[in-house]
Amino acid sequence: PSGPPSRRRKVIVTRDLGPNVMPLLHTRKGLDVVLWREDRTVDRDWLLQNIAGASGVLVMFTDKIDKDLLDAAGPALRVVSTMSVGYEHADLPQIAKREIRFGYTPDVLTSAVADLSVMLALMAGRIAGEVISLVQESKWPSVSWAPFGLCGPQLSTTHLSPTRTVGFLGFGRISQATLARLIPFGITHCIYTSAPNSPPTETRDTELATQHKLTSVRRVDIDTLARESDVLFVLTPGGENTRHLVDESFLRKMKRSSVLVNTSRGTVVDSSALAKALREGWIWGAGVDVVEGEPQVTAEHPLVKEPRCVVLPHVGSGTFETRLGMATLAVNNLLAGLDIDGQMPAELDL
Ligand code: DGY
Repeated sequence: PSGPPSRRRKVIVTRDLGPNVMPLLHTRKGLDVVLWREDRTVDRDWLLQNIAGASGVLVMFTDKIDKDLLDAAGPALRVVSTMSVGYEHADLPQIAKREIRFGYTPDVLTSAVADLSVMLALMAGRIAGEVISLVQESKWPSVSWAPFGLCGPQLSTTHLSPTRTVGFLGFGRISQATLARLIPFGITHCIYTSAPNSPPTETRDTELATQHKLTSVRRVDIDTLARESDVLFVLTPGGENTRHLVDESFLRKMKRSSVLVNTSRGTVVDSSALAKALREGWIWGAGVDVVEGEPQVTAEHPLVKEPRCVVLPHVGSGTFETRLGMATLAVNNLLAGLDIDGQMPAELDL
């Protein structure tokens, strides 16, 4: 029987998404899945070569989606889907200009990143880097226990410190989930900054304060955020608009007892300024899951060398459940971009 010739579409996938998720693509009729099989970030040259003529590409936040790559893909490209909530690596104006659909993975990782943000706040306050290395270097016997030895500021309120202000640089889903996790610690005040020109939020803030029994939830300017936060969470998207918002002048305004946590993008914080702030005691401690220039962060990096800085290798979303959710959503976004219905994995075998 004659009919329209079947047109197969090529999709590129830059990491193996595992046995639960890859079948969602492999079992689709009409798709040629071209997979980078190695267990490391895709080689740029491989991607540039293989993307030619592709209809869709599923990438990680480690893969740069810029003009050169979009040019190499050519006019067939309908969708870019990233397995990340962040999109600093993607040139959105270029993508929009070519009317390419763009998918990302919000919501599914909110809880995991909020969990890790609280973990880092606790670790930084309680000098986890210093005390863990002390044990690992067999120094526990010589240090032993001392009444005021190896102490840090308490995250939870006490009768001696009955108020606690948490600050958020950016107040989206992950910030609000982090705030919710901190309520049992007795947090009393919440302050945050939002993008300039974002709509008024007073009604929402009053509701949040009532819901969490907080004294206040307030949108403030960036100087107030620096000055008043006991714990400051950096949770704003990366990119040119937010680059080095946390710089030397910001850090100099912070309380000496305060803790800074960054679980968003390394570019928001000036690493050299943060290392100096820790070295010179402008702030108490820091916990960072992201560092500008990652993954080129070695033992020689100024932040890694700082005992008061806990540095993690970008593992905020790193739970099996969350990564499975992200991979599934990234595949379904890719399929939706090609006007194919998505589905859930047959098994959730972690
Ligand atoms: C993201 O999704 O943007 C995180 O940084 C990695 O999970």
